Amino acid sequence: MATATQAIPVDENVSKYVAKKRQMLINGKWVDAASGKTFPTYNPATGEVLAHVAEGDKEDVDRAVAAARAAFDKGPWRNITPSERGRVIWKLADLLEKRLEEFAQLECLDQGKPLGLTRMVDIPTSIDQLRYYAGWATKVEGSTIPISAHGAKFLAYTLREPIGVVGQIIPWNFPMIMATLKLAPALATGCTVVLKPAEQTPLTALMLGELIQEAGIPDGVVNIITGYGETAGAALAAHPNVDKIAFTGSTEVGKLIVHAAAGNLKKVSLELGGKSPNIVFHDAEIESAIPGAANAIFFNQGQVCCAGSRLYVEDKQFDKVVDGVSQLASKIRVGPGMESTSDMGPVVSEEQMNRVCSYLESGFSEGAKAVTGGSRHGEKGYFVKPTVLVNTNEKMKVVREEIFGPVVTVMPFSDVDDLIAKANNTPYGLAAAVWTRDIKKAHRTAAALRAGTVWINCYGVLDSAMPFGGYKQSGWGREMGKEMLELYTEVKSVCTPIS
Ligand code: NAI
Ligand code: MG
Repeated sequence: MATATQAIPVDENVSKYVAKKRQMLINGKWVDAASGKTFPTYNPATGEVLAHVAEGDKEDVDRAVAAARAAFDKGPWRNITPSERGRVIWKLADLLEKRLEEFAQLECLDQGKPLGLTRMVDIPTSIDQLRYYAGWATKVEGSTIPISAHGAKFLAYTLREPIGVVGQIIPWNFPMIMATLKLAPALATGCTVVLKPAEQTPLTALMLGELIQEAGIPDGVVNIITGYGETAGAALAAHPNVDKIAFTGSTEVGKLIVHAAAGNLKKVSLELGGKSPNIVFHDAEIESAIPGAANAIFFNQGQVCCAGSRLYVEDKQFDKVVDGVSQLASKIRVGPGMESTSDMGPVVSEEQMNRVCSYLESGFSEGAKAVTGGSRHGEKGYFVKPTVLVNTNEKMKVVREEIFGPVVTVMPFSDVDDLIAKANNTPYGLAAAVWTRDIKKAHRTAAALRAGTVWINCYGVLDSAMPFGGYKQSGWGREMGKEMLELYTEVKSVCTPIS
């Protein structure tokens, strides 16, 4: 007997949106690529083409940067009052809230993740980010500095000024969250932007462009270029008239961005990969550690830079945790995001599915065992079964490299010093978690972990107000929180004798 599925009807505006070729936003106009080329974006639940999108490349990036440069230099945006900028960004959040369902559906169709997730997490988070940084527009302050130079009296103060034209290159795992997280602080500080969404998921950023216009953000302040990384992305990263590049994606491409930026020494911030250790001590509240560990890796099909992909469990509790996480994994209902019966959707693309499956093969060939999962799910669409791997160790590729899929490796430990050494033995340093009832042990371990975020007795808690970013090869700089304003401002010292 076939299982009953609950297909959610597609909103009429969303159907209309994907039926039309989508253009790019340059200088307040919706335009085709200069080459006239387009590329398809797919629905990963079916593998079918969802929409055709303008394929921008260097020439389009040149046009967009010229528009952003003129908008910055003439200053319609940075010269309005901070209060007005904040009000416009808040209005953008309100407009997005009104069309939450459309954005949630479009994100689900283009990215694959369950509609429940885009309704409850992705779009609400985007709205929150816009409001959080709308509030900062009026609070980007300098300071006064008591200086001692020349033994004379001086008045010295700092100004925080917008950094200028910003290129923003974002990935496909949280397309809207990435777009708003990048745009909001840039707009709040008075910068102008060229945004390049990922080629796998360009649609919601483009639809956001319509709201950006409706909110009253002046032409040229936000330009949105769709296209491939090697062409459009690379042209933006190398562009001599871009003052700063903000990138989220793979560590490999992060390094290319750094090289590309060297030509004009533009400022660079990077949010890159991770292989985050999730550590369960024997004295943890196991009833919350087990679902916490499952959610740490299976949320968003495991396509999360801070996913808890290396689960370390103190040996006394090892079997219980492996068993608990595996049981939860095997109960996850995998299916199209637009069916209300799906807990987990497909991974983003055929390429990503193949990448995840080849990691599984590599794990098995090195001796890993799947307690549950371990392969593709079904034959249509790009689904991967939630997978729990044991018999793994630090020498294996599945333990060392970012898989970016629903695959967790579980390893036992007994000695704490050895555990910390193993947890830190990675080129990454994005996040980590510790589960224990012992408060001293919790904070001692948090201090010993080389990671930008450490969760204690929880996992994956992120907030617009809390800084996030990587140690080591997980990145440069911190996003979210007031720290993120530093990425979009230059500090100017001003000083004058007053005696
Ligand atoms: P990617 O790093 O290639 O893509 C991210 C963005 O960079 C996209 O907008 C892409 O168009 C752009 N890009 C690609 N090459 C570029 C270049 N040479 N110059 C400028 N921009 C460029 O990531 P990809 O290939 O889609 O995924 C591969 C792996 O990267 C994943 O399996 C995962 O391990 C990691 N990844 C990490 C993310 C994170 O949030 N830290 C997000 C996406 C991927
Ligand atoms: Mg797509």
